[in-house]
Amino acid sequence: MDEAVVRLEEVTKRFGPVVAVDRLSLEIVRGEVFGLLGPNGAGKTTTVRMICGLLKPTSGKVFVFGYEMPKDALRARRHIGLLPQESDIYEMLTGRENLEYFGRLYGLEGEELQRRVDEVLKLVGLSERADDRAGEYSGGMKRRLMVARAIVHDPELVILDEPTMGLDVFAVRRIRRLIRRLAEGGRTVLLTTNDLEDAERTCDRVAIIDRGRLIALGTIRELEEKFEERGLEELFIRLVEGEGE
Ligand SMILES: Nc1ncnc2c1ncn2[C@@H]1O[C@H](COP(=O)(O)OP(=O)(O)O)[C@@H](O)[C@H]1O
Ligand SMILES: [Mg+2]
Repeated sequence: MDEAVVRLEEVTKRFGPVVAVDRLSLEIVRGEVFGLLGPNGAGKTTTVRMICGLLKPTSGKVFVFGYEMPKDALRARRHIGLLPQESDIYEMLTGRENLEYFGRLYGLEGEELQRRVDEVLKLVGLSERADDRAGEYSGGMKRRLMVARAIVHDPELVILDEPTMGLDVFAVRRIRRLIRRLAEGGRTVLLTTNDLEDAERTCDRVAIIDRGRLIALGTIRELEEKFEERGLEELFIRLVEGEGE
């Protein structure tokens, strides 16, 4: 099977006059944690939505597990789990009920559904609070519930759009550990972030994008060598924030 789980070929997305994603090409390979880094407005969420088949590129091609998106999105969908940037859990339902609901949407039922729900609750550390209403959870717990929901149908590709944004440092650490655990479990992970420490602590490879354009791609070490810069933060300042000064 093709090693590329995700392949973007010269992908452009325009919203009227705005070019949100500009001729972006990259591949994400099986089993890696891939970070899409960029400041707000760089085009990260737009890229994620095209990979999930929720948005159609203006031009270029998007393949996920060899399926062209969004044309074959129905077939690709069960292999993809998404944690969207905005929370959309049901606060009136318990954590467990949220997971059961989403599991059913993916065709799980009966004992298999219960087994999967228990497994993911355990993985994200919410077993003991599973029967409390999600609305009563802390920010970190809600985010962990969203991770659980993204993986309840056991997808091979897990996409996390800004998974640590807005959380306190302890919750952030927990999410980072969880990301590594997903990868150790054999999954391919794509995460977007503007937190460079997320990238340093979790990613095997990163792509830096700015104004929809790819400006650097590789392991952090490769980028440090290529740009003769130490540390991702220095690199980022030079490649992104330094522009226009
Ligand atoms: N539905 C939309 N309609 C119009 N403009 C959009 C829409 N979605 C995103 N954009 C614009 O596209 C650019 C990239 O946005 P986005 O992908 O959300 O960036 P990021 O996730 O990196 O913060 C921004 O300029 C944003 O305003
Ligand atoms: Mg975004």
